[in-house]
Amino acid sequence: MISQLESLKKFSSVVADTGDIDSIQKFSPDDCTTNPSLIFKAVQSNKYKKLFDEVLANSKSRKFNQLNDQVDYIADQLAIAFGIQLTKIVPGYVSTEVDSDLSFNTEATVEKAKQIINSYEQSGVPRNRILIKIAGTWEGIQAVKKLEAEGISCNCTLIFSITQAVACAEAGAFLISPFVGRILDWFKANSSKDYDATNDPGVESVEKIYNYFKKYNYNTIVMAASFRNKEEIINLAGCDKLTISPSLLEELNKSEGELDQKLSQNQSSQIDIDRINVNESSFRWHLNENQMASFKLAEGIRLFNKDLLKLKETIREQL
Ligand code: G3P
Repeated sequence: MISQLESLKKFSSVVADTGDIDSIQKFSPDDCTTNPSLIFKAVQSNKYKKLFDEVLANSKSRKFNQLNDQVDYIADQLAIAFGIQLTKIVPGYVSTEVDSDLSFNTEATVEKAKQIINSYEQSGVPRNRILIKIAGTWEGIQAVKKLEAEGISCNCTLIFSITQAVACAEAGAFLISPFVGRILDWFKANSSKDYDATNDPGVESVEKIYNYFKKYNYNTIVMAASFRNKEEIINLAGCDKLTISPSLLEELNKSEGELDQKLSQNQSSQIDIDRINVNESSFRWHLNENQMASFKLAEGIRLFNKDLLKLKETIREQL
């Protein structure tokens, strides 16, 4: 009998969402995504001490004006070092995230993205293997527009609304990551309604985005992310890509059975959907009107930043 993971792969490209290099080989994912929280978690593990020590040692051969510059450099190089290892395991893309504290600064985001790409290229990893992850703020999306125009592919992350998704697609984003589980978390915490696999608001958000993109023939890849259970994944079978944690990959791998395709270009193109026009003021207005999306976007940036600061603290302790 086929595993649910193998069955899912017939409809969607499966991506591993982790910094834990060793945990994903057996699932043969196409791509891999990381974020500052996942890199921080991986660095805590003894398994990656050698990689950590190598990055620290390499930084010592460079000159820095201040200790903070060295710490920032090491934090970037660590994310890239994990990314390089991941490119050896997956055949496709590896996503590396730009610092969250740049989420409201277009120019600084562009500059950091270019630095990351240069570092990868200097290590022999071509830019066509890397996606630069940038939060779906208005400023982040403007950075994506500039980077895509210069041949740097981006993964717009922390997508909680159709408004963000359409703005990313209009900016020419290569890929977006609409979050599922964090939307469910918000509705569970803020309403008395019961949610299950039949009315999961995170799944509904991805369906809406996917249908819109396919209806209007956007090339931007929809990669659903942030899952709380395997039913959320199963209900999105057919989405272009699904990025899944090692523990849920394991669950899908252990469960047997053929899945049904839930999303398809053909089905989406037949649905009546009104066109959405997004400009800066309408983007800010709709995001502000959407309590869940504004809260989760802001919180997501805070959480990624918090873990990046924790990573920098760990680095400082080692210097
Ligand atoms: O790829 C996004 C993902 O890592 C976020 O997942 O579980 O922290 O909501 P989660």
